[in-house]
Amino acid sequence: MKRLLDLISEKTMQAFAACGYEETYGKAALSNRPDLCEFQCNGAMAAAKKYRTAPIKIAAAVVEILEKDPAFLEVTAVNPGFINMKVSEAFLADYINQMRADKDLSVEKTQEPKKIIIDYGGANVAKPLHIGHLRSAIIGESIKRICRFMGHEVIGDVHLGDWGLQMGLIITEVRRRQPDLPYFDESFTGEYPQEAPFTISELEEIYPAASARSKEDEAFRAEALDATAKLQDGVRGYRALWQHILNVSIADLKKNYANLNVEFDLWKKESDAQPYIPDMVAKMKADGFAYEDQGALIVDVKEESDTKEVPPCIILKSDGAALYATTDLATIIERMKLYAPDEIIYLTDKRQEMHFIQVFRCARKTGLIPAETGLQFIGFGTMNGKDGKPFKTRSGGVMRLEYLLSDINEEMYRKIMENHEADPEEARETAKLVGLSAIKYGDLSNQASKDYIFDLDRFTSFEGNTGPYILYTIVRIKSILNKYRQAGGTVGDGELLPAANESEKALELELVKWSAVAAQAYEEKAPHRICAFIYDLANVFNHFYHETRILGEENEAIKKSRIELLELTRKVLETAIDLLGFEAPERM
Ligand code: ARG
Repeated sequence: MKRLLDLISEKTMQAFAACGYEETYGKAALSNRPDLCEFQCNGAMAAAKKYRTAPIKIAAAVVEILEKDPAFLEVTAVNPGFINMKVSEAFLADYINQMRADKDLSVEKTQEPKKIIIDYGGANVAKPLHIGHLRSAIIGESIKRICRFMGHEVIGDVHLGDWGLQMGLIITEVRRRQPDLPYFDESFTGEYPQEAPFTISELEEIYPAASARSKEDEAFRAEALDATAKLQDGVRGYRALWQHILNVSIADLKKNYANLNVEFDLWKKESDAQPYIPDMVAKMKADGFAYEDQGALIVDVKEESDTKEVPPCIILKSDGAALYATTDLATIIERMKLYAPDEIIYLTDKRQEMHFIQVFRCARKTGLIPAETGLQFIGFGTMNGKDGKPFKTRSGGVMRLEYLLSDINEEMYRKIMENHEADPEEARETAKLVGLSAIKYGDLSNQASKDYIFDLDRFTSFEGNTGPYILYTIVRIKSILNKYRQAGGTVGDGELLPAANESEKALELELVKWSAVAAQAYEEKAPHRICAFIYDLANVFNHFYHETRILGEENEAIKKSRIELLELTRKVLETAIDLLGFEAPERM
């Protein structure tokens, strides 16, 4: 369905043409002076230059035509040649009724669905999920939902880190603690135990311990490097132990991501791409792209137009080991083979930008990917504490995601219980939903590339530009709708009548923006556009709510019309927060 702004533009353009001017001058825009008008057209100024006449004359002639159109309440020509417009309440109500009837609530889905892989989350096996991975999960999940909503086929892949030195470190530390396990006995030929020799909490303690030890103990580090190589070479016992690490760790990660309302279609890992490496390397060499430099195998990826240095992409280290870039290149091959996507989008901390520049250029140069396949990197900023430094726990350590979530839930629970009497069990569930909205909205409302300050007090507030405020607004609407239903009313089958006051009209004009906002959020892969819109919408709604009788309205038709307006507002808000990855409770 057409956007309201486009309908207005059509009218203004036709009016320009009818007056003898090129119609392109007649494009309309949203008003940037909402105190004066709702829409405006500034084309008379430009047209005046071309037609060598006074802009106000053009504007006046156009206004004379537009005035006859019942779509407008008021059209005025203002010096030096602005055309200011207000739409009529009836025209607007009619548009809203069409929007209500549209199954996509006016959003234009894509005509050409693409297959898009989104590589996000990026947790590393056996390391506890920490804040660094939180943003990737939150932003990636939202972008995935936005792309899917616009009609694309989207595959979300967590792309776990399971192949680096961290594995060797863990294996070596396990060996130090339990040297008699069969995994370390090279002569062992039997079946390895089904049961892992550690629990998740032990595993989470093992990695930091091993990592610390490797920094002090040279021999331990050498052993860990050797264990990494052996694992990668396929030594049986190491592979079996690695499989235990994966199983224990992935089960835990799944639980953690589920708590975040983050869902992956694929649980692929770095190790899955390893089988593609030998052929890839051989081909890069044979094609003359990869060459040896100081023992390492590299591909040059710098370009003449570079303003900063782009170092060569290292394919193999001098000891023959594969690197992060090697794995990412092989993963591109694997993805093309298994899924043939039109586009791959990666989400990590923006400090990885150079890595992705190198990988993308190398993939294109060596022909791993067709020219028309898109590769996009979305780098995000750091989540800082109130001191402006990367967010830490009170004791100064790296904050574990679980603790962060439970802190927030606790705070939300306290606020809910303080607000009103609530059943403690229900309040716990509500606190989870509201807590998640606090974290996600707090993150997503910022432009992703920017750093932001994690401020628990602000994020969990029911007032201001926060997730809980948005949910509070939705819950307010739901409660009115429920009361209406309880009194025997039905929702969804009525008609909107022309707005009776300014705040009602303002709410309608805000709802009408949804289609353009969704399209822009998709184009820019920018969830913050959705946040900005729903914050405005919530404000405009709350203003309407305070100014206007709804359930107390005596005229039944008007009451019903307002109920329908609330229902549309609820639908748009709930669709929008679903794209952000959280949901509203029934009560709070
Ligand atoms: N595991 C990586 C990290 O923790 C992130 C992976 C991102 N995805 C990728 N294809 N490189 O930094």
